[in-house]
Amino acid sequence: MSDPKHHVEKPYLITRRLKPENQETPIQFIENDFISNNLFYRRNHFTYPKLTFSNYFLSINGLVTTPLLLSMHNILQLPSKTVEVVLECSGNKRSLFEPRVFGEQWGKGAMSQGVWKGVPLRTLLEISGIKEAAKEVVVEGYDFGVRTDLDKVFSYTRSLPLKNALHPDTIIAYEYNKQPLSFIHGFPFRLIVPQWYGMASVKWIKQISVIGSHFTGPYQNIDYMYYPNEENDDGAHPVTTINVNSTIQKPLDMARLNTGKHVIKGIAWTGKGCITKVEISKDNGSTWSEAQVYDSKSSYKWVSWSYEWDSVEKGIFTILSKATDSTGQTQPIKPYWNRNGYGYNAIDQIKVKVE
Ligand code: MTE
Repeated sequence: MSDPKHHVEKPYLITRRLKPENQETPIQFIENDFISNNLFYRRNHFTYPKLTFSNYFLSINGLVTTPLLLSMHNILQLPSKTVEVVLECSGNKRSLFEPRVFGEQWGKGAMSQGVWKGVPLRTLLEISGIKEAAKEVVVEGYDFGVRTDLDKVFSYTRSLPLKNALHPDTIIAYEYNKQPLSFIHGFPFRLIVPQWYGMASVKWIKQISVIGSHFTGPYQNIDYMYYPNEENDDGAHPVTTINVNSTIQKPLDMARLNTGKHVIKGIAWTGKGCITKVEISKDNGSTWSEAQVYDSKSSYKWVSWSYEWDSVEKGIFTILSKATDSTGQTQPIKPYWNRNGYGYNAIDQIKVKVE
């Protein structure tokens, strides 16, 4: 039996589904900027792929001047790059949409952050050479399964426009927080696409193909599309960059507090640009005060913020947090409702009772 004197209380992943494994980070209990591998959220469309690493080769083919077959050793020899990046699932906070939408019912923790090391995708494409007709780069994962809507087997495959594929910070990662990338998170190689929602960061890369048209696989053209209407597909457009967003970590939602000083704290992040301001309201949006934001220049990472609240009155308080970024985007009061529930970024909200 474990000795209670030596017990250290610690958070765990929050299970949403087991087959495939979908578990979220206990985001309210995260205190540092780089989430340990065991608390990193897990988002899978299929059960884990079965790979034999002893004969792993990465194929780079399609509209390239020299098709390549690279071993793990070949890739690890290439110049590497390290990026500090927040990864957020586009379904993060889906459970908050009203009317409710179908899909994984994520709370606020389908997101994590850490340090990724790998080879820029650009470097690989420079070695293979790209033909002039190239438009997109398709990245296929080793995992596959039957889709309920199409009754056919598909692998998890997505494309990136050439511009994003060639961005120097788009990497094929093989290390996370200075440790080898874990199998759960995509070993031996996964894509990391800073600023884009997590669906772009394909795990367990099997092959990379350069194509001259728009890729139309179901994880590109059916899923990860915003459908603004319940009844039809009018106005459908793809999910790409992360929306400006914030999450209150403390106090906990529905907490009972004493009168006196309390620190309201949390994180804020965005896709394009960086966070310039986080505002807090203690009266459900009637008045706002600026929170202190730490390290706001880091564009791919979240920033931490805090606000000291002297709660002299007793009662029930609705506390809001609202982030603004350097492109002028601010969290809206109402989220952009869409049928599949992507990109939720309404002003964050908790309630507390001061007694
Ligand atoms: N890559 C593969 N091969 N299969 C997947 O199911 N899920 C995507 C992306 N890459 C997925 C994938 C989605 S939707 C997200 S949000 C992230 O991986 C989650 O990465 P993680 O499980 O390492 O947190």
